[in-house]
Amino acid sequence: MGRVALVTGGTRGIGAAISIALKDAGYTVAANYAGNDEAAAKFTKETGISTFKWSVAEYDACADGIAKVESDLGPVEVLVNNAGITRDAPFHKMSPQQWKEVIDTNLTGVFNMTHPLWPGMRERKFGRIINISSINGQKGQFGQVNYSSAKAGDLGFTKALAQEGARAGITVNAVCPGYIGTDMVMAVPEKVREAIIGQIPVGRLGAPEEIARSVVFLASDDAGFITGSTISANGGQYFA
Ligand code: CAA
Repeated sequence: MGRVALVTGGTRGIGAAISIALKDAGYTVAANYAGNDEAAAKFTKETGISTFKWSVAEYDACADGIAKVESDLGPVEVLVNNAGITRDAPFHKMSPQQWKEVIDTNLTGVFNMTHPLWPGMRERKFGRIINISSINGQKGQFGQVNYSSAKAGDLGFTKALAQEGARAGITVNAVCPGYIGTDMVMAVPEKVREAIIGQIPVGRLGAPEEIARSVVFLASDDAGFITGSTISANGGQYFA
């Protein structure tokens, strides 16, 4: 049995690719998901990866869910904070609810998941936290004041916590995907999406597996000197 890795939003999109890549690299993987039971059941059937349902937006649910994962599989040594949602709207049309949902999941969710795991990682003197931020947290995006704020917040979280974890053998890093061919990007109106693809120098959307490989690297022992860093994987669309 390899180290235990917990991937939030780990049954679909980029998260599913990360779960599978970590499993292939020898980790025992737990994939968290919030709502889509059908996708989770299909994912387990296809991959053999265990799934666990709770919302990262709720602190107590995270603490309880993590306790369940640890009693089933053992201490979590790798945490991938991947779960994320969009509620896109131009700012003048953005409701407080659209703001709150995105901040609660994409930013507070990272706190909610990391905080209960932190004492165990400190005690064991080993941990890997990998936060999936976004190109839009680096550059901002029309229609995504909520999402860009949360994802930029994830980068601040990464850099601050990296300093606290360094002496305890815990690394904290971020990956900023650009536009990847997932349901989230396919939900962008086609005309807008085509315009965005036109701004990507490699001329295509990324594949989820191209993000997953960066995560496997950051989780590895070889990456022990890398902390507080951001890997940008965006086809050349933006150089942070
Ligand atoms: N820059 C400047 N102006 C823009 C613009 C842009 N990027 N995008 C739209 N506009 C303008 C439009 O041209 C339009 O102007 P006119 O009224 O003068 O024609 C005006 O803004 C309104 O545009 P829409 O008709 O599209 O307005 P809407 O309310 O129907 O939709 C929107 C607005 C929801 C923001 C829509 O444009 C949209 O979905 N944009 C894509 C946002 C995006 O990139 N989301 C990323 C999702 S994927 C993801 O988040 C993953 C990741 O990490 C990368």
